[in-house]
Amino acid sequence: MSLKGRHLIDPNDFSLEELDEIYDLADRVIENKDAFSDICKGKILGTLFYEPSTRTRLSFESAMLRLGGTVLGFSDANTSSVAKGESIADTIRVLSTYADIAVMRHPKEGAPRLAAEYSLIPVINGGDGGHQHPTQTLTDLLTIRRYKGTLENHTIAFCGDLMFGRTVHSLISVMARYKGSCFELISPSELRLPEHLRFSLTEKHDVCFHETENLEEVIGRVDVLYMTRIQKERFFNEADYMRLKDSYILDRNKLKNAREDLIVMHPLPRVNEIGYDVDDDERAVYFRQAEYGIYVRMALIALLLGVNANVESK
Ligand code: CP
Repeated sequence: MSLKGRHLIDPNDFSLEELDEIYDLADRVIENKDAFSDICKGKILGTLFYEPSTRTRLSFESAMLRLGGTVLGFSDANTSSVAKGESIADTIRVLSTYADIAVMRHPKEGAPRLAAEYSLIPVINGGDGGHQHPTQTLTDLLTIRRYKGTLENHTIAFCGDLMFGRTVHSLISVMARYKGSCFELISPSELRLPEHLRFSLTEKHDVCFHETENLEEVIGRVDVLYMTRIQKERFFNEADYMRLKDSYILDRNKLKNAREDLIVMHPLPRVNEIGYDVDDDERAVYFRQAEYGIYVRMALIALLLGVNANVESK
């Protein structure tokens, strides 16, 4: 099935073959960026951001501009007619006539799916509450594939806020579909991976996973360490956040026990969970990961719009 005209609401909307098609195109973009500079000429990306963002919004904008298209939208819903009470359904119906493709970030789980139901153009989920963040997952998978050469047979440690971290939920749900995936889940007991996801790991995917509160216990036996921040904005009270916010801080000393071929990832923004002394370590790939977000979004936009990406090298 072609990706043209499809929505991306949950990363599991796409088959592994379709995901490969996106990474393959992203690889081609990385190798020859100039060749893709006008394949979306005349196309418009609409950005509907009801929640703050740096990477997702700006990398989508950068992606569309690098493809020769243009961008319109809002980064603060209070500057749009949302402030007057306009519904998501009406907003996307109107945007469908102004743009060719849309990306939406919203604090409420399911908001992008609702938008997709009323949309005439492809809708991409740019993060919905504590639920999913599919384009971060594409970014993460491209990063793992480029550093490790394959998406199979990896032991991945997820560390931090596994309860509210939507990047973790999305990435785990896709990695569970790859052969030989194994997970180390490191969190305070209050911030464990939600029950429905743990259930799906065992019942649906037969994936091995182990839970611990101790990063040092597992750091020496993992291929990928995926650090996350404690999600302040999802907590119901400040006292709980203050108590848990510095549960894990990765520093150079802790990395001494890690494998030489480990990669340290983080969806960013980081707050305190990775020391600045880690940034110069060759295993720290989180800034390159953020950069890959542009190229994977270029590939995604091109494929959902169905533009001709069979370009000659420049
Ligand atoms: N990783 C990520 O979603 O970052 P932003 O919140 O800055 O978009």
